[in-house]
Order: sequence, then C-alpha cells, then structure tokens
Amino acid sequence: MEGSVVGTLEGWIRDPLTIIVTLTVLFLISFQLTLFILILIPVLGLVIGRITKSLKRHSEEVSRKNGESFSIIDETLGGLRVIKAFNIEKLLRNKYFTTSRELLDAKNKISYRRDMASPLSEVLGVLLFTVVLYYGGRLVLRGQLIEASAFLGFLGIFFNIINPAKALSTSFSNMRKGAAAIQRIEEVLNTPVTVDDNPNGKLLTSFSDRIEFRNVSFAYDDAVILDNINLVIEKGKTVALVGSSGAGKSTLADLVPRFHDVTSGEVLIDGVNIKDYSLESVRSQMSIVTQEPILFNDTIANNIALGKSNASQEEIEAAAIIANAHPFILKKEGGYQSNTGDRGTRLSGGERQRLTIARAVLKNPPILILDEATSSLDTESERLVQDAINNMMQNRTSIVIAHRLSTIRHADEIIVLQKGKIVERGNHEQLLALGGFYKKLVEMQEVR
Ligand SMILES: Nc1ncnc2c1ncn2[C@@H]1O[C@H](COP(=O)(O)OP(=O)(O)O)[C@@H](O)[C@H]1O
Ligand SMILES: [Mg+2]
Repeated sequence: MEGSVVGTLEGWIRDPLTIIVTLTVLFLISFQLTLFILILIPVLGLVIGRITKSLKRHSEEVSRKNGESFSIIDETLGGLRVIKAFNIEKLLRNKYFTTSRELLDAKNKISYRRDMASPLSEVLGVLLFTVVLYYGGRLVLRGQLIEASAFLGFLGIFFNIINPAKALSTSFSNMRKGAAAIQRIEEVLNTPVTVDDNPNGKLLTSFSDRIEFRNVSFAYDDAVILDNINLVIEKGKTVALVGSSGAGKSTLADLVPRFHDVTSGEVLIDGVNIKDYSLESVRSQMSIVTQEPILFNDTIANNIALGKSNASQEEIEAAAIIANAHPFILKKEGGYQSNTGDRGTRLSGGERQRLTIARAVLKNPPILILDEATSSLDTESERLVQDAINNMMQNRTSIVIAHRLSTIRHADEIIVLQKGKIVERGNHEQLLALGGFYKKLVEMQEVR
C-alpha cells in the first residue's frame, strides 16, 4: 500500500495540472486539432485500462498466496514431529511447492502485465503523435485553419502532454495494486471479533464476592453447546466441572475470561455483568492453565514472568517452588536462564506444565481456571503437577476441570455436565449417594 499510494500521490497533483494547462494552450492555438486529440485519448485509455484491470485481480491472488505459503511454513515447523512420524514429508513438500509455484505464477503474470504496459504505452504514445502529425500536416498543406509555424508550436507543446499522461496512467495501475492490497487488509480487519471490549468499562480491580452464571446459554452458530446454566461460585470456593468429553466443560470455563460471550443469559462477577467491565481488567483477575502448556522460545525465567514483567528473581523462584518446578530448573545447565526451545521442546511435558503453573502462581490472581491441567501427563509428573496445583489453589477461587476424579473429590461443589446441561450437582458424598452419572464415572475409574 505504501509503495502504491505514496509514490502516486505527488503525481496526482502535478500531472493533471500540467495536462490541463497544456490543453488550454493547445485549444488556444487550434480548437479543431485539440478536439481531435481528445477523441483519440479515450481509445488509448481503454486499452491501458484493460491491462491494469487484470493487474488488480493478479495482485489479489499474490497477497492470498503469500499468506497461504506463510501459514504452511508455520504449520509445518510446528507439527514437525507428527509429520515425521506419519511419513508425510513428501505430501507437505508438495503442498508447499504447489503454493509457491502458484505464487510465482501470479507474480510473473503481474510483472508480465506491468512490463508489457510500459512499452505498449510508449508505442501508443508514438502512434498518437504520428496520427496528429499526419492529420495536422494535411491541414497545413491544404492551407486550412492553421499556419505551419503555429502547427510546429502546437506539436512542441503537445509533446509535453505525453509524459504526464503516461505517468498518470501508471499511477492508475499502481492505484489498482494498492486497491487490491487495501481489500486484503480490510478482509483481515473486518474479521468479526467474537468479543467486543467495552472501552468505557468499569475496572475490575479486585474480586470480592462471587462469580455467577445466570441462565447462561451458548451456541456456535446453530449448535447449542451450553443450555441454561445456573451456577454460583463464591469467593474462596472450588467448583469442579466433570462430564464426558464434548459435554461443554471447556466452553463453560472459557466464558469467565470472555474467550467467547454468552448467547443468552449473563455471567456476573461481584454482581456486575462481565461485559460491563473492561476486558483487560477481567482477565487480570485470573490465571488459566490448560491441557496444552504454551511456552515461548525464551529463558525459563522469562516464560514464568510472562504475566508480570517486572518480577524479581526471588519472586520467580518462589513461584517455581510452589509449582514444584524449582528442583528441575536447577538441574538444567543454565538454571533459570536456560532456553526452553521452540514452543518448549527442550522440556518434558510435565516440566512444561509446571512452568505454566509457576507462571499462573506468579501472576497471583484471585481466580484460577484449570482446564485438564494434568491430563496429558504420566502418573509421576501428574502427582508433582497435582501437588503444585493444590499449593496454588490455596486461598483462591477456582474452576477446575479434571478427568481424574480423585483430584477433585474435595471440591466444594461438583457440577456434572452432559450435552451442555447440568445433570447433577453437589459435593462428592452427596453425588455418590445420589447414585447417578457421577457415581458411575467414579466406579469406572476405580476399576482401573
Ligand atoms: N469453535 C467451535 N466451533 C464449533 N463447535 C465447537 C467449537 N469448539 C468446540 N465445539 C464443540 O463444542 C462442544 C463442547 O466442547 P468443549 O467445551 O471443548 O467440551 P469439553 O471441554 O467438555 O470436552 C463439543 O461438541 C465441540 O465439538
Ligand atoms: Mg475441554
């Protein structure tokens, strides 16, 4: 956009001005001859227009293919292990080659059109000049309308018009390219935002009372995922969500940090709809640990300090101790300064998870959301991580999703979800006594 707009702007004032002034002088010299030229010019414009039009289409294609090839590179690097394990290197290579071949083709077409446009307009300019020379020359020879000396002057001035006219048509084609770029940018910018921040929202500076779900329903398009959920989580309590996979547990938990917004009903924190708070202040009150630990290619210390950039080394170590991460970090060669590798590949799954827990601890928010934080771990590291989680949950309000029910038996309330509905609720003993779905789940896990 910059290339096509900035380079074009100055010509947009200079060239039309030159053309207008020159045309006026030409009209003064010979009205008829100038009129003749003005009729010829639209014909040329039509030809050039045709070329620049396809330029826009190809420019669009180039932007699209560019994006595609970047995302292929990103996905391939991210999924390297899976790609090797499934022996699909060739497949992905071909996919990449196909895309970059298409990108190359589209780029070539643009260059071809652009390089064609320049000699073509050159030829057309000369042609125009020739026609004028011929037509005007005949008028002079016949002794009509115009003197030979005036005609020579006319030609000299007319010659001045050709370059600005050509520059103007080039800037038109640049504009087309710019327009294609703008279109692509708008496409990205206009992607619907699922959650609107309230810029004048209240600041949620502290959490003092309760989180409440009031008649909450949520649907992706037509698929109803959560159906009329009513739930109160009082400060300091732990609420566990259980249910089969796909029941809507993660979706329910994600409503609190507003990763999506309810379709109907309300989520309230301390009696105020969370949409009335500023998004940032809501999220600053909570930490989230999910099944998939997300680490960045940086030092261990920086990965822990993600939510609190001014944390001191002591604070980072204190958080790591609570998260059961301190001992393994010390065993690393660089200690807290060792690098975690791309996406944390230099650490084991359990180690990664403990770093994300240390990160959550360091942020020290009143609300914790744990979405199957231990599910991807082996028994040994699960125990370490579970201890870390238990340390972290002290004196906090937590929403816990766990597939191993033994870890949530002490929750203040256990919510059993099935197909987006709450089917059972109560504490561990109450639910066992009820003899329903929860009891069945517990028995199934005990057999193992
Ligand atoms: N982005 C999405 N678009 C459409 N459906 C989705 C999307 N994300 C999740 N779902 C569906 O929502 C349901 C609930 O998902 P989820 O809350 O993740 O279940 P759980 O955490 O209980 O296993 C599932 O049936 C899932 O297929
Ligand atoms: Mg889930």
